[in-house]
Amino acid sequence: MGTLLFLSNTQTQLGQFSLFYQAKALLTKSFSASALSKSRCSFSIKAAKMEGNEITETGEVNLNEKKKIFVAGATGNTGKRIVDQLLLKGFAVKAGVLDIEKAKTSLSNNPDLQIVKADVTEGSDKLAEAIGNDAEAVICATGFRRSWDLLAPWKVDNLGTINLVEACRKNSVKRFILISSILVNGAAMGQLLNPAYIFLNVFGLTLIAKLQAENYIRKSGINYTIIRPGGLRNDPPSGNIVMEPEDTLYEGSISRDQVAEVAVEALFRPESSYKVVEIVSRVEAPKRSFEELFGSIKQH
Ligand SMILES: NC(=O)c1ccc[n+]([C@@H]2O[C@H](COP(=O)([O-])OP(=O)(O)OC[C@H]3O[C@@H](n4cnc5c(N)ncnc54)[C@H](OP(=O)(O)O)[C@@H]3O)[C@@H](O)[C@H]2O)c1
Repeated sequence: MGTLLFLSNTQTQLGQFSLFYQAKALLTKSFSASALSKSRCSFSIKAAKMEGNEITETGEVNLNEKKKIFVAGATGNTGKRIVDQLLLKGFAVKAGVLDIEKAKTSLSNNPDLQIVKADVTEGSDKLAEAIGNDAEAVICATGFRRSWDLLAPWKVDNLGTINLVEACRKNSVKRFILISSILVNGAAMGQLLNPAYIFLNVFGLTLIAKLQAENYIRKSGINYTIIRPGGLRNDPPSGNIVMEPEDTLYEGSISRDQVAEVAVEALFRPESSYKVVEIVSRVEAPKRSFEELFGSIKQH
């Protein structure tokens, strides 16, 4: 009863930052592969080319030259959107999932999509094997699964992400994109008493787990883009993307489609390298190009 009251009070205070983000932990609640296509037909959407630490836009490409991106948490609400957008933009995708059968039904049937089991809690060696030696970049869209295990956020959102970074190092993957969250550094930005900050940390230290993982990535030497979205919505975009530097936004929400777009666009934009960006969407915000958005954030 006490908990329920807390939940309902908190919910009203959170405004647009979705309370139910990761509150799922409170409530109780693998390798079939379609061979990667090496088809020879050409197409007109943009693709990407890795040069050192940067991925540069190359314009029209031949499918022969498709770059492979590994997506961890590929059956998640954001993960599957990232997979779809990568395929649309002409990448080959290796989808790292917990449940191969679920992935077969929830992910599109596409010759450029390969599905592999990848539990981020199982250590970096297994992950390195799953990622393989031909991935140009890893995008991490994992988030702990609902359970009574209060350590789940720590295992997945901290240790799991660190395992992924280590796996990238082992395989010399040079680009890492993480879907994190606004408010991860809430304590440092004067948001210690923000209900969302309290709530998400009380149940499993979720935001602290994510912040620690972010810090690990930042020290790893890998070219990273850490994307911190506000509350996630499944509905289509209803406003324009607002992008701010780290530790700026403490409320707001954004469509998962837009989060996926930002993650995929980061692969094309050298301006996104070594950056932490916070994103929400606002109807009144002006529409800005991704070059402008990423370009407006300082590198660290
Ligand atoms: N919800 C929000 O409002 C909000 C706001 C800001 C940031 N975020 C963050 O944004 C990210 C994406 O959120 P979302 O709501 O799209 O996530 P989601 O739908 O809950 O998806 C999470 C994915 O992680 C996978 N996963 C869980 N444990 C794993 C493990 N041990 N190894 C590998 N994969 C594992 C899940 O697999 P299954 O599909 O098999 O379950 C699922 O595919 C998360 O990090 C979340 O914390 C969320």
